[in-house]
Amino acid sequence: MSATVLGIDIGTGGSRALLIGDDGVILASATAEHAPFVSKQAAWAEQDPHDWWTACRKAIRSVLTSSGVSPQQIACVGLSGQMHGTVVLDEAGAVLRPSIIWCDQRGEEDAQWLEETVGARRLLDLTSNPALTNFTLIKLLWLRRREPETWRKVRHLLLPKDYVRFCLSGEYAIDAAEASGTLLLDVSRRKWSEELLGAVEIDRRILPGVFESPEICARVSRNGAGLTGLPEGTPIVAGAGDQAANAVGIGLTHAGAAGATIGTSGVVFAATDRPILDPRGRLHTFCHAIPGRWHVMGVTQAAGLSLRWFRDTFQTDGSYARLTEEAALSPPGADGVLWAPYLMGERTPYRDPNIRGALIGIAAHHTRAHVVRAIMEGVAFSLRDTLTIFSELQVPVERIRLSGGGARSPLWRQIQADIFGHAVETVQTEEGAAFGAALLAAVGAGFWKTVDEACSAVIRVAESIDFRSEVASHMNERYKEYRRLYPALHGVYTEHAYASI
Ligand code: XUL
Repeated sequence: MSATVLGIDIGTGGSRALLIGDDGVILASATAEHAPFVSKQAAWAEQDPHDWWTACRKAIRSVLTSSGVSPQQIACVGLSGQMHGTVVLDEAGAVLRPSIIWCDQRGEEDAQWLEETVGARRLLDLTSNPALTNFTLIKLLWLRRREPETWRKVRHLLLPKDYVRFCLSGEYAIDAAEASGTLLLDVSRRKWSEELLGAVEIDRRILPGVFESPEICARVSRNGAGLTGLPEGTPIVAGAGDQAANAVGIGLTHAGAAGATIGTSGVVFAATDRPILDPRGRLHTFCHAIPGRWHVMGVTQAAGLSLRWFRDTFQTDGSYARLTEEAALSPPGADGVLWAPYLMGERTPYRDPNIRGALIGIAAHHTRAHVVRAIMEGVAFSLRDTLTIFSELQVPVERIRLSGGGARSPLWRQIQADIFGHAVETVQTEEGAAFGAALLAAVGAGFWKTVDEACSAVIRVAESIDFRSEVASHMNERYKEYRRLYPALHGVYTEHAYASI
């Protein structure tokens, strides 16, 4: 009976379970959907943690059935999930209110309060990160200020995947990579920042213990076993937030390895051997899912979302394939059309929740092909903004691996290579965060000694795409124009900007 491990990813849209063998080969996977997030007000986003647990149980049961793997063969479980969301529990471990999830932007006032109270520079020194509305601490401050009745009952804080671990095992635990996105972790020391907790008067006792991602930190309880079909006592590794887990899943392990992911949002990620701080707070500096390593990343709020928005709003047949075929008819540079992808404000490099998107440079001869190409290029320009900061901070970038839905389009792959002015690669197994979580579990189970060993045994490059020098130098000029969009758009929405014209 050969051993397997189970990777679970609690995403925003659904929960995914993935079984891999002790050679890293995928045996089966299953996804169960979540209800869409609820937005009671503009820029609010909430989900019910019970819904994640229900979907996760469904995905586990369905992967066990479809694979024919006996539960006794599962040597370890690894967890990954959407980052930054709050799950607040009372003394008895009951959920006190819906989770305020990663994309919720309600905490602008609280972020300001935090920067004024602690000082922006001190906050960066303590946590390596700025006060972003996406981060968990800002959501907690909002809760304390706006829902004091609930706040008084809070005895435990967990993040989405860690709540699922709690349901599986009864344990309160988190990994250093995920904890980095709470804004409560001393990222360079990989432990909670006592000084920050003191400054914001949050009780250390509500926080779970911090573990390294491949470390076993819990075991499936009798109750968890009854509800999932997994054997009682199955070990569970700490796992990682979705970005660090995805990086493991595509082999971004060492300094020099970078990745560009186009999912709903877009992420440019680089592994580093020390915490590299951006003094201007434009990048996230987090612990990696590998002990003793860190990573930096920049986030485009509406990457794949830009194309989805266009498809859903203006096109009836709904196929991405047709849209991108059409885009290929336009020349690189979209004949002067530019897309600023700020449909949900922007994180990197502007940290501006209020900026909005724009399509500019349109003339009478332009067609839908130009517009779609401009959208795909605008997203890649926005990803390049993060690469620009990487080069400013001397973050080494030797190779760039693509992942997410955007990596499945040959045109978008070429657009990224030409706009980055750098070769890009894809990997054979493109299974994202659930695969990374499974590899972390494989290390916990002892299939490999380290995450590096697991990645080099399992991950293979599928294709390498070179940039075309002439196109790249043209796109370089277009990038300069793209960079002028944000200040111009900011001016449109700022009352005083053109007062003197
Ligand atoms: C990372 C981030 C998203 C979420 C949702 O900072 O906000 O990747 O984890 O997937």
